[in-house]
Amino acid sequence: MSFEKTKELANGSIIPRLGLGVWQVKDGSEAVDSVKWALQAGYRLIDTAAAYKNEASVGEGIRASGIPREEIFITTKLWNADQGYDSTFKAFNESLDKLGLDYVDLYLIHWPVEGKYKESWRAMEEIYQSGRAKAIGVSNFHEHHIEDILKEASVVPMVDQIEIHPTLTQEPLRKFLAEHKIAVEAWSPLGQGKILENPTLVEIGEKYNKTAAQVIIRWHLQSDIIVIPKSVHEDRIKQNFDVFDFELTDEDINRIDALNTNERLGPDPDNFDF
Ligand code: A2P
Repeated sequence: MSFEKTKELANGSIIPRLGLGVWQVKDGSEAVDSVKWALQAGYRLIDTAAAYKNEASVGEGIRASGIPREEIFITTKLWNADQGYDSTFKAFNESLDKLGLDYVDLYLIHWPVEGKYKESWRAMEEIYQSGRAKAIGVSNFHEHHIEDILKEASVVPMVDQIEIHPTLTQEPLRKFLAEHKIAVEAWSPLGQGKILENPTLVEIGEKYNKTAAQVIIRWHLQSDIIVIPKSVHEDRIKQNFDVFDFELTDEDINRIDALNTNERLGPDPDNFDF
């Protein structure tokens, strides 16, 4: 299956299909270096969040990379405690300040906080209209959360970033999102590194002289899922981007799909307490 390295979102924004995630990457040199190495290795998408507390270092890494800002797609997210109409604007401004940017490419509601997310979405729509977020979307939204938002929304979310890996493939939600032209983005795409010794993934990798991590990334890409693996090691950051010279067969894809056990590593968006 051939595909472009980028995907067009419903509003026409162009998002790279493979990026660097920086959840649990420490603020300071760890985040600065990871972002810089990734950009120098060819990545053009960096995914952070206010809650990761590393936006300032992400901004520093971008500037240290020497890659022009307009060539980079930056995502950040609205934290739960900041949800609400007025507080969303305040939180967004703080994120821009920390990043040292005057716009982001994608701003997401991080979790569907009950009773708050619709008000937050109203503010997100205004931020989008102002041009300071080139696209907006949600994260950890189930089908019913999206349906709820769509009742009053004037802008349909362009992205839903959800937990997806070979042991949590989320096929019904992905199908729903595709029907609504909402792009699917995976967090913890490598299963937080916990499935890299899975014999099926290792065996498939051996056929192509690739690692299990590269096989998983390729499975996301060929499944039309935007993918943001995290690493703080330069060799792994490079390895995770070295996935454009091989192709999984339909049979490989089916074998990986069959690893699904519906087991979450993170909380269920219908039951979280933060
Ligand atoms: P590290 O940051 O020490 O390299 P996910 O993106 O699913 O959250 O997975 C991230 C985890 O997988 C991290 O613990 C990361 O460790 C590890 N990881 C990322 N890329 C690789 C790789 N190519 N090989 C082995 N482990 C990896």
